[in-house]
Amino acid sequence: MVDTLKKPSFEEIRPGVKSPAKETILTPRFYTTDFEAMAQMDISPNEDELLAILEEFRADYNRHHFVRDAEFEQSWEHIDGETRRLFVEFLERSCTAEFSGFLLYKELGRRIKDKSPVLAECFTLMSRDEARHAGFLNKAMSDFNLALDLGFLTKNKKYTFFQPKFIFYATYLSEKIGYWRYITIYRHFEAHPEDRIYPIFRFFENWCQDENRHGDFFDAIMKAQPQMLNDWQAKLWSRFFLLSVFATMYLNDIQRSGFYQSIGLDAREYDKHVIQKTNETAARVFPVILDVEHPKFYERLELCIGNNEKLTEIANSNSPKFVQFFKKLPYYVSNGWQFLRLYLMKPMEVASQQGVVR
Ligand SMILES: [Fe+2]
Ligand SMILES: [Fe+2]
Repeated sequence: MVDTLKKPSFEEIRPGVKSPAKETILTPRFYTTDFEAMAQMDISPNEDELLAILEEFRADYNRHHFVRDAEFEQSWEHIDGETRRLFVEFLERSCTAEFSGFLLYKELGRRIKDKSPVLAECFTLMSRDEARHAGFLNKAMSDFNLALDLGFLTKNKKYTFFQPKFIFYATYLSEKIGYWRYITIYRHFEAHPEDRIYPIFRFFENWCQDENRHGDFFDAIMKAQPQMLNDWQAKLWSRFFLLSVFATMYLNDIQRSGFYQSIGLDAREYDKHVIQKTNETAARVFPVILDVEHPKFYERLELCIGNNEKLTEIANSNSPKFVQFFKKLPYYVSNGWQFLRLYLMKPMEVASQQGVVR
């Protein structure tokens, strides 16, 4: 095998500093919001629960968890070729997602400090956790002789503006799905230690408890704003965010099934499990959840995967850009159509489910 095949090359902005992945609809985003509206929010309807969560954050159970031990101190050159490329990409995506949480929570903590001290402290303590997570992942990248320049990302990445209530739906789901992703990988390695090719996965058990607590915080905030959860609009938005988060993860992961294969997981099975668990969890707060067991649900997502493969093929072809555009158009339309059909699928009402979905 030639050397270039063994050691994939990455674009760098400086030696050892990886240039950030190209932004697409499927890459992790950075968010900003209406800080004034956030500061004015009345949390009194659920203040006791929020204070209890704040106490948990202050306890800082993972203070000593993120310490690299001796197992990291070895050469990782044997992880090579496509596995190495996928592995670095996994670390980068995870690091960017964690860092995105850090930036948003940190800014919220800073901007609402005077008007809403309880929420502000919660946000600041969550940003502490996310900074640890992102830092730990970035350090892991350095085992592969790369790193992300997080300062560069802060200044150069686009920020998406969301109203506070959309921030809550989106971050709640990303924390809970993060929890299920980490714990599922951790449990897999518990059963199959021979698949654990790199030590970072050992840290996932305590790590995912941070994400679980963060998710509980957003659950409690939404319950403090019952108007966010109890009308017909809330039902439409819940469906929209559940579907967006599930579809994004599924399309991303299936595209990278080689990564999951390299750690002994089947990407489809893994994703279906994570989606089912996150959907069940969301029933604790959202007024509706999705019928992810309906056969059409994955059938339609699979059609989108087929479309995306075609889109990539066209993008990598030699035809001129405007020809590419017309070739791509039907696949974009089909993706939009599938998304709409998925969105319109009959959801599951949570009220009638209470006590069942836990
Ligand atoms: Fe995190
Ligand atoms: Fe988190």
